[in-house]
Amino acid sequence: MSDVLALPHAPRWDDVFELEIARLDGKGLGVADVRATVGPDTTKTRRFRFLVRQALPGERVVARVVSRHRDEVEAVVQTLLAPSPDRVAPRCAHVGPRDEPEKGCGGCTLQTLDYPAQLAVKREIVRFALAKAGVVDVPVNEPRGAGEVFRYRSKMEFSFGTNRERKLSLGLYPAGWHRDVLRLSECHLVSAFTSRLLPVVRDLCEAEGYEPYFARKDTGFLRLFTVRESPRTGERLVELTTTGAETAMSAAGEVPAGDVARRVADAVLAFAAAEGARVDSIYWTRQVTARGARTQLVSEVLAGAPVYHEELHLPGGRALRFGVHPRAFFQPNPRQAEVLAAEVLARLGDARVVCDLYCGTGTLGLCVAPFVDEVVGVELVADAVENAQANAAANGIENATFLAGDVADVLRSDAFGSWAGRVDAALVDPPRAGLMPKAVEHLVALAPARVVYVSCNPESLGRDMALLAAAGFVADGPVQPVDLFPQTHHIESVVLLRRRA
Ligand SMILES: C[S@@+](CC[C@H](N)C(=O)[O-])C[C@H]1O[C@@H](n2cnc3c(N)ncnc32)[C@H](O)[C@@H]1O
Repeated sequence: MSDVLALPHAPRWDDVFELEIARLDGKGLGVADVRATVGPDTTKTRRFRFLVRQALPGERVVARVVSRHRDEVEAVVQTLLAPSPDRVAPRCAHVGPRDEPEKGCGGCTLQTLDYPAQLAVKREIVRFALAKAGVVDVPVNEPRGAGEVFRYRSKMEFSFGTNRERKLSLGLYPAGWHRDVLRLSECHLVSAFTSRLLPVVRDLCEAEGYEPYFARKDTGFLRLFTVRESPRTGERLVELTTTGAETAMSAAGEVPAGDVARRVADAVLAFAAAEGARVDSIYWTRQVTARGARTQLVSEVLAGAPVYHEELHLPGGRALRFGVHPRAFFQPNPRQAEVLAAEVLARLGDARVVCDLYCGTGTLGLCVAPFVDEVVGVELVADAVENAQANAAANGIENATFLAGDVADVLRSDAFGSWAGRVDAALVDPPRAGLMPKAVEHLVALAPARVVYVSCNPESLGRDMALLAAAGFVADGPVQPVDLFPQTHHIESVVLLRRRA
């Protein structure tokens, strides 16, 4: 490869390039920068950024272009010329190039990378995102790795659809592709039970002639199949999501929608009985849409209890128990959520009054509550707030209050009045987009001595750290990544920011 290529035209579909992969980007794609002149003008050099699926840092590959947007070129590996020494054989049959049948699963983007190397790559992803935002003076620690690097997910949502041969599928979408659904025969992120259950449910639906829902045509019935299971309690909740239609098509003709849901529920229970496994709750949720009205999720318990239970163990040995409803958010890797909670606690120091912003169902706030005087949580979703309150009561926690509303509104509302001026630490765990400008403004006005920032997106973390540093909240100690999602490019991070006097 010469330093500057002379290209007859800008990279286009099906062109092939020999590339050296420098790093992975925030989405787990291999990055290679190519400088080239284009066309007859050899005086002007352009820089093309190639993003290559399933290529690893340090690898030399021949890559085939699949799309280009301005100077950003998406490509797939055609030939692996020099594999990374950290490349390993994938465990799952669905890892591989997207153009091979039932391969290219978007669930695991890093399964071909040895786990210690995954952690090193994730540290680089965080470092790169911070540097890009101008945060260059804050070190990034080695991520806290997971003990279980497979079968760790406590929630997985699988889609009904069709594969490339138009056969009914139940599974995940290929990475970067939202049309076909892979017909999964196994999944190593969920329990072995759930992995075996998937093809059973799919085969039943196929044999009965039930139809997957297609949004573009607004036809069909089956939408999602979700399994939630706790590693600590062993409890399990299964949810079938369909359209809101009253009837559905089957091989025997049109049947009442409820018959289809009950048939699936019976198959799940029969399979669990045969395997000697527990299923504590089965839900049927109908996604009811009406022109001009908001989509409603109407849920009904078909078997068992209305919630399943998760448990988190805190430093010092105390355990918290959470009743989790199908609509409630719960950290999808509960074992590593315990590590995350311990990292948060270690950064709260001697704070007595803690505000848990973006608190969801209060998981982090409730983990903190036994160690401080008071916790006040703020969350947009009213159901999650109700859940948080119920979870506090179920655990005998009396020093935690949860308020529903937008962080930007609640922090300056009367309801928050009794905490204003008393909060000495704010715990923030925003969605991927990070803090909205108004939220930053109100956080600064709240003036806690400490902010413990938990982030699921290194890019928004970098941006917010830069904004908060300009407002007087500077990092005290390194950023600590915690790996909640082995085999994927996702990474959580925790950092302590202190208000300058
Ligand atoms: C990453 S989750 C936090 C989860 C929570 N800390 C836990 O451990 O369960 C982000 C949460 O922020 C909430 N959220 C999003 N925008 C919000 C806003 N403007 N104000 C308050 N909460 C918001 C979401 O509903 C979601 O529950």
